[in-house]
Amino acid sequence: MKICCKAPGKIIWFGEHFVVKGIPAVASSVDLYVRTYVEPCKDGKIRFWSKSLEKGFVYGEKEPDEELLPFKRILDLISERYGSLPNMKITIDSDIPISYGLGSSAASSISFAAAVLKYIGVEPMPELVKELSMEAEKIVHGKPSGIDTAISLHGSFIYYLGPHDIRPLNARWNEEYTLLVIGTGITRSTGLVVKKVLERYERFPNIMNKIYEAASEISATAKTLMINGEWDRVGELMNINHGLLVSIGVAIPETERIIHNSLRLGALGAKISGAGMGGIVIVLLRKKNRDTIINGVASLSNEIIEVKPGIPGLECSVKD
Ligand code: PMV
Repeated sequence: MKICCKAPGKIIWFGEHFVVKGIPAVASSVDLYVRTYVEPCKDGKIRFWSKSLEKGFVYGEKEPDEELLPFKRILDLISERYGSLPNMKITIDSDIPISYGLGSSAASSISFAAAVLKYIGVEPMPELVKELSMEAEKIVHGKPSGIDTAISLHGSFIYYLGPHDIRPLNARWNEEYTLLVIGTGITRSTGLVVKKVLERYERFPNIMNKIYEAASEISATAKTLMINGEWDRVGELMNINHGLLVSIGVAIPETERIIHNSLRLGALGAKISGAGMGGIVIVLLRKKNRDTIINGVASLSNEIIEVKPGIPGLECSVKD
């Protein structure tokens, strides 16, 4: 028997950073996946291998490297709950770049937890997978908001009002449009960027309050426009939202060059997505302008990925 569970990554469309102070955010899945495969292990051990990190461990033998601790944590939790684990070979493979804010760690822990559960004969019910993934995410992020886990599990678009209020958003995606995820090549720590923004907030609370209020209005308006399928106007809102991200200090020349060039070449909207100070830019455009825009920004990024937003979340298959 061979199990394969795949879980998608995510992007934030609206509200990053502002969400830290309770403002709603809008996010969606994208068709970049982490896949976990589980099959019998001939030598009777529980072996784990990450193809993208090019490292692994044998469960129960020496302590794995720090990056692999979330996977060990999930195995510990599953064995505490369901008894000792059978031999298995677990392989994880990802097409989601790491440390870009594309939700690679949540997608990894979700696909991993679901695949191991399925292999031992436990149905990977959403609540159970979420709980295991959140435990693993705590090792990576300290205090995860739950947004990445929710999207990777359920897919689609969501309106995020806090860890306990994550609402599905019935966006009407239109295939005339497309979305690019453009990497700046600069990775950063979300925690440090969040801290910097909060310090600015403390220095100018009255001004920042107005910016946060505007962000709240943007997310609420975006939600309605997405439900109505008004993507040109969603693009315009992305530009307004990016202006606010510039104001709170998370833009850098590399993000701005990509954004300005994309807009100059006909993109409808372009903004930082996630923590900023590097990371990724997302660009909304009509498909007919795709080649012009991709060629126009090719010299600014080594990572230009066309993605489809709002695809389904976790999916598992079994081969006998
Ligand atoms: O880590 P990223 O890039 O997916 O985005 C973090 C989003 C923030 O709003 C900046 C932080 C948070 O915890 O919500």
